[in-house]
Amino acid sequence: MNPRNTGEIPDASGIGNVGNPVCGDIMRMYIKVENNIIVDAKFKTFGCGAAIATSSMVTELVRGKSVEEALSISNKAVAEALGGLPPIKMHCSVLAEQALRSALADYYRKIGKDPSTFEPKDDTHQHHEHRDET
Ligand code: FES
Repeated sequence: MNPRNTGEIPDASGIGNVGNPVCGDIMRMYIKVENNIIVDAKFKTFGCGAAIATSSMVTELVRGKSVEEALSISNKAVAEALGGLPPIKMHCSVLAEQALRSALADYYRKIGKDPSTFEPKDDTHQHHEHRDET
């Protein structure tokens, strides 16, 4: 009900953009990294309430964590921290997890590391078209 850490970080170390193939909602996450520790995280989303709640939770959870620790945060952990999400809303928590990974991948690229082991696939430009053949 009271989302925290919405907004942008102007001098972010990494920015992640992801789209949810299930509902079309999008999310942008900003992280600030100093000495391998995430010192700040913020997000913006055009998503539903569950997406906002999970993103808010992710930005709270990653703060003060190392980059490696942040990578081990799963959408399940986020949903549990929120007291459980209904199954129909689980895809919303995936959006938060993917946005975090995308931001970390951006950071890795900036410092010359390879993010391919955890970088989410870019679904944003894949349109799952189901054409009506009538
Ligand atoms: Fe789209 Fe929840 S319905 S993120």
